[in-house]
Amino acid sequence: MSQPIVEHTIAGVRERVRALRADAVAAGIPHPRVALVPTMGALHAGHLALVERASEVADIVVVSIFVNPLQFGEQADLEAYPRTLDSDVEMLTGKGVAVVFAPSADEMYPQGSSATRVTGGDVAQRLEGRSRRGHFDGVLTVVTKLLHIVGPDIAVFGQKDAQQAFLVTRMVRELDFPTTIEIVETVREDDGLALSSRNRRLDARERRAARVLHQALDAAVSAADGGIDASIAAAQSALMGEDLVRLDHLSIIDPATFQPADDSFKGAALIVIAAEVGGVRLIDNDTAYFG
Ligand code: PAF
Repeated sequence: MSQPIVEHTIAGVRERVRALRADAVAAGIPHPRVALVPTMGALHAGHLALVERASEVADIVVVSIFVNPLQFGEQADLEAYPRTLDSDVEMLTGKGVAVVFAPSADEMYPQGSSATRVTGGDVAQRLEGRSRRGHFDGVLTVVTKLLHIVGPDIAVFGQKDAQQAFLVTRMVRELDFPTTIEIVETVREDDGLALSSRNRRLDARERRAARVLHQALDAAVSAADGGIDASIAAAQSALMGEDLVRLDHLSIIDPATFQPADDSFKGAALIVIAAEVGGVRLIDNDTAYFG
């Protein structure tokens, strides 16, 4: 089974992608398409769904694995983030991935950080951005770097991080990156819990309690006939009684603008939720139709 080539340096991955494009041209693909799947590693089936989509739309697939310090507020959260490069590469073997780009923090930020930041405007300050100050500027800055380094035609992101998907899509459009953004549906456990690298930090009780996020979203979707307030109330009542879950935010937003939907809103809206389950921060979202 074909194992991805692992590149640790910016020069190395650039040269590798250039050579793979040239090989593809020589093999008769006049305009080979490169897809990038940016990740922070600790890969699971949700990431594999992104990789699968990338292989459908591109000739050459690159997966980046980099735990980006710029997007973590707390040092403890950054340190606790799982780092599993060997098993990640094994998981990508035979999945059509040509290259894994796994740089060190020094390689990406030789000055220790980046004084230049790409900012996401007011949407980046709301919801996830309100609880995690600077998070989205860190995400947009590293995504910008990865897009410049790899130069993909397509980049693939997951719908679970809906606010990130919105901000990256808008950034690429507003700053004229020559890259198309693909968003892939959330992959879930049998009981509905959205797959996340953070799930592995939940103990058995917390894991059971975490199901309530999806149950709250389901309740909100089912109550959408009654309007926005009824939908929020249904989600809140589903969350009640789960002592291990501390709700951070629960909102219904217009997916076109990521601004809150009010009671006059009509059409498909996004219900977004974030909660701490025993100290592990989890997020999820679903679509509800308001008539
Ligand atoms: O979604 C993630 O894993 C990260 O935010 C990303 C896009 C890889 C940037 O570090």
